[in-house]
Amino acid sequence: MTARIQGIRGMNDILPGETPYWQYVEDAARRVLDAYGYREIRPPLLERTELFARSIGEVTDIVEKEMYTFSDRSGDSLTLRPECTASMVRAAIEHSLLRGQIQRLWTMGPMFRYERPQKGRYRQFHQIDVEVFGAAGPDVDAELILLTSRLWRALGLPGLRLELNSLGTRDAQAAYRSRLVDYFRRYRDELDEDSRRRLDTNPLRILDSKNSQMQHLIEAAPKLVEHLDAESDEHFEELKAILAAAGIEFRVNPRLVRGLDYYTRTVFEWVTERLGAQGAVCGGGRYDNLVADIGGEPAPATGFAIGMERLVALLRTHDVEPPTHAPHAYLLALGRDAARAAHPLAERLREQCPRLRLVVDGGEGGLKRRLRRADRSGAQLALILGEDEVRDACLSVKQLRTPADQARVPQTELGEYLQRVLVDEGTGQ
Ligand code: HAM
Repeated sequence: MTARIQGIRGMNDILPGETPYWQYVEDAARRVLDAYGYREIRPPLLERTELFARSIGEVTDIVEKEMYTFSDRSGDSLTLRPECTASMVRAAIEHSLLRGQIQRLWTMGPMFRYERPQKGRYRQFHQIDVEVFGAAGPDVDAELILLTSRLWRALGLPGLRLELNSLGTRDAQAAYRSRLVDYFRRYRDELDEDSRRRLDTNPLRILDSKNSQMQHLIEAAPKLVEHLDAESDEHFEELKAILAAAGIEFRVNPRLVRGLDYYTRTVFEWVTERLGAQGAVCGGGRYDNLVADIGGEPAPATGFAIGMERLVALLRTHDVEPPTHAPHAYLLALGRDAARAAHPLAERLREQCPRLRLVVDGGEGGLKRRLRRADRSGAQLALILGEDEVRDACLSVKQLRTPADQARVPQTELGEYLQRVLVDEGTGQ
């Protein structure tokens, strides 16, 4: 036998049994984003490598070790997006979306990071990414958090915890950086190799280290939130006040630094204990310097991204059932005349009942085998079109989920009959 070609490690097929969860999340996200006046944008999956190097930061795990980078046929260095904040900023600048306006934008789709795959961490994963450009105040940071909180409620997800921190302005970060370097220099021997290197290149990233042997050092390190500039401090206090007024619970986590370099002031994550080590379901924050860093007129910006694989996994731990996509009815035709009549009849029914999910049985077999297929499809009704039914212009309707006698329904009345089924189910108009 010819050798099979396998999929790529860390890149998942999302199978038909799982897609209802995804559609449930996507539909709820679209509804909530719509309700807050956010508009969709769809940047490409590939960008110039430089875009990510400059925005995420040269000395970050993502840029140092996780990007899918290659040269295209004309020798340009391109990268499959590891995140899409940078792409959103690039697109907004390129298409002049930023001129003196507030832009509320979102996008949804796959991101690529060459990480070590494990539960909740993949090489292709999906995000719902939301960004606001042109608004500097803490009220917009709060709006983003309220929006996510509404999404959790819309999905029926309790128990996500909000962690909050402020990283201050670039100047505050620079002052803090030298404090941090002084501190870690004193314990240089206890640092791992990565952290020792980062002492000179990007000491803030040391706080992000997962190395358990360094956690006591990290715990005792000076905290940025205690060295904020006055304006950032005020911004942070105001954000906390708005959240408190809106009834959103949060915990200030001075260790929350996030894995990307572009953040200034607010950073936040929604976390859960239910997913093991990969407990961050959503992360984001403010990045007021990035637009200018990528070559645009300076504009404040803030946003977040939700990890969709983790959100779906979390829904499953709460036994949240997405709406079914099983067909309402399964039409099976027996004999050549019936087979010819089946599709035109099905088309008429689809006209009459726009929300009807109707499968026309394909393939061979006798009534028993076909009824088994109908049953396996999850349909409520089997619509049987045999020679007698064609002759009498009717259909035999068999209930597949409830015990009931088979009924004969004239074809002219079938649309109405199915409409009633839909109304009972709550999907009819
Ligand atoms: P991030 O924290 O790198 O932020 O990713 C956001 C979320 O994506 C994470 O909280 C997690 O749920 C999910 N995620 C990240 N990496 C993986 C992975 N390898 N496998 C599965 N899920 C993953 C960003 O990407 C920023 N662009 C967020 C942002 C938008 N900040 C401002 N605007």
